[in-house]
Amino acid sequence: MKDSDIRHRFKPDNGFLKIAAIMTMGWTFPGTSAAADAHTIAATVCIACHGDDGNSVIPTFPKIAGLQEGYIVKQLRDFRSGARTSEVMSPVAAALKPEDIAPLAAYYSSRKMKPGEAVDREAAGFGKMVYLDGNEESGVPACIGCHQAQGVGYLIYPRIGGQHAPYVAHQMKDFASGDRSNDFGRFMRAIARRMTEEEIQSVAEYLVGLDER
Ligand code: HEC
Ligand code: HEC
Repeated sequence: MKDSDIRHRFKPDNGFLKIAAIMTMGWTFPGTSAAADAHTIAATVCIACHGDDGNSVIPTFPKIAGLQEGYIVKQLRDFRSGARTSEVMSPVAAALKPEDIAPLAAYYSSRKMKPGEAVDREAAGFGKMVYLDGNEESGVPACIGCHQAQGVGYLIYPRIGGQHAPYVAHQMKDFASGDRSNDFGRFMRAIARRMTEEEIQSVAEYLVGLDER
C-alpha cells in the first residue's frame, strides 16, 4: 500500500455533506422523503453493524460502502428470500420494507469503501499473485478477471478491494462448503472449492489494503 493510501484513511468523514449533495441532486424516489428515509434507516439500524457510512469496524462484518448498487439490492433480496442465509443479517433484511431496499442500495453504493492495511505483508504478497494470476495447476481463475483491477467490481461482481480479511475468508469458506448458496454464488463455489487454506487467507490479506488508485 502506498503512503498516500494510508493517509487517505484518515481523511475526515464528509458523509453528511455527501448526503446533502445527493438529496439536492434531485433523486426521485416515489415519495419525496425516500432518500431521507434511507439515511434514517442507515443511521439507526445498519450503523450498529456496518458503521456510520457502511465502513464496518467489526472485521467479521462486511463493509458495505461502495458495493455495486445492483449487488446490494440482490443480496438484500437473497437474505429476505432465504437464498442467502445469515443468523445475524437475515432477520434484519426480513424486517425491511421492500420499498426501502433500492434507496438503501443507492445510498451505500454512493459511499466509499475505506481500505485497511495488511498486517501480514508476506501473505499479502502471495495473495496478490493469486488475485492477478489464479492458480493454473489447481484451476483457480484470476480474481481480477471478474472483480476487476484493484477489486473495484462490476455489475454482479462485487467490490472486494478494501474489504475486511476475516469476512472475506469466511465467505470463501461458506462458498466452498455451499453454505452461501445463492445463484450468482455458483461462480465462487466452483473457485473457492479449489483453493487451499493458505490461498484463501493470503488473498483475503491482500484485499484489505487494495484501494482504487
Ligand atoms: C446486527 C448486525 C447487522 C445489522 C443491524 C445489519 N447488518 Fe447487514 N450484515 C451483517 C452481517 C454479519 C453480514 C454478513 C452475513 C454473512 O456472513 O453472509 C451482513 C451482510 C450485509 C450485506 C451483504 C454484504 C456483502 O458484501 O455481500 C448487505 C448488503 C447488508 N448487510 C446490508 C445491510 C443494511 C442495508 C442494513 C440496515 C438496514 C444492515 N445490513 C444491517 C450484519 C448486520
Ligand atoms: C467468474 C467470475 C468470478 C471470478 C473469477 C471470481 N469471482 Fe468472486 N464473485 C463472483 C460473483 C458473481 C460474486 C457474487 C456472488 C453473489 O451474488 O452472491 C462473487 C463474490 C465474491 C465474494 C463475496 C463478496 C462479498 O461482499 O460478500 C468474495 C470474497 C469473492 N468473490 C472473492 C473472490 C476471489 C478471492 C477470487 C479469486 C480467487 C474471485 N472472487 C474470483 C464472481 C467471480
